[in-house]
Amino acid sequence: MTGIPNFDSLFRLDGKVAFITGGSRGLGFDIAAAFLQAGASKVIINARKEDGLQKAAQDLNSIPNIRGRASFIAGNVNTMESVEKLVAAVKEEVPGESLHILVNNAGASWGGSFEDYEDWKTAKTFDVNVRGPFNLTRKLVPLLAAAGTPSDPARVIIMSSVGGIAVTHVGRDGAIAYSISKAAMHHFGRNLALELAPKNITTNVIAPGWFPTRLANPAIEKYGGLDAASADNPMGRLGLREDIAGTAVYLCSKAGAYVNGEDITLDGGKRLLGGNSNSHQTDAKRIARL
Ligand SMILES: NC(=O)c1ccc[n+]([C@@H]2O[C@H](COP(=O)([O-])OP(=O)(O)OC[C@H]3O[C@@H](n4cnc5c(N)ncnc54)[C@H](OP(=O)(O)O)[C@@H]3O)[C@@H](O)[C@H]2O)c1
Repeated sequence: MTGIPNFDSLFRLDGKVAFITGGSRGLGFDIAAAFLQAGASKVIINARKEDGLQKAAQDLNSIPNIRGRASFIAGNVNTMESVEKLVAAVKEEVPGESLHILVNNAGASWGGSFEDYEDWKTAKTFDVNVRGPFNLTRKLVPLLAAAGTPSDPARVIIMSSVGGIAVTHVGRDGAIAYSISKAAMHHFGRNLALELAPKNITTNVIAPGWFPTRLANPAIEKYGGLDAASADNPMGRLGLREDIAGTAVYLCSKAGAYVNGEDITLDGGKRLLGGNSNSHQTDAKRIARL
């Protein structure tokens, strides 16, 4: 036996074209940067606000030693009409109406107590977190199918949350609507895994714990700040840019070609916590110092 064939390209994305919703900041931006650094030829980012997108594309294109380019498409994922516009714009942007990677990352959360939760918040949460990825993915299937092959399928990544698999926030600042919208995305991923595999498209779900971003920072502050949130994690820290980058590149490169219908949780193991978290915090702090 010799070494693994083509190992040098196993974790690379050379020549790939990707579309990432919510790519102007936070986790979506980090995934876009990682894709370009892994060799992607084109990364199209989306968000609602054009100024944020412009700045993000500029930042991405100034990453040293990348061969690909970042471009952007402004638009909301929350209605069928805006999704149709996004899809038409993506078709214009990708060579040969062929798209290797779709990352459904845009998401939003409105907190509030369960009994007083205004219905507009529920509607908005589901429009952005569920209807958006649902409609965008089904409309982009022809482009993804055009890019996928049996040995190197096109990839759909869905950004869920630990809130989609565990109950993370209830009470006054609860996030029940967010939590159940993300739970829906896990089953969406499993359904797509079977629905789209015959078209050479795989689907996987990433469920992050806390990464300090504009979306997560207010919740982290309410919890007691970065230090308290870090100490409450078995690994004594929150998510880093490299954590989301590595997982997304793995899932979208040849290394992840046979992974389909999987949920990958990125939370340092925090979701598994049971029992006395105080003694646990002490351990986490001790481990963090080692
Ligand atoms: N950070 C965490 O700790 C964490 C944990 C678990 C899950 N997540 C999930 O990870 C994803 C990214 O979150 P993040 O923390 O990176 O948030 P973020 O920093 O607030 O970034 C959100 C991105 O989505 C865009 N966006 C928001 N609503 C949109 C819409 N309706 N249509 C199109 N784009 C929209 C934003 O730009 P505009 O405002 O210009 O539209 C921005 O680019 C979300 O799905 C979130 O639920 C995050």
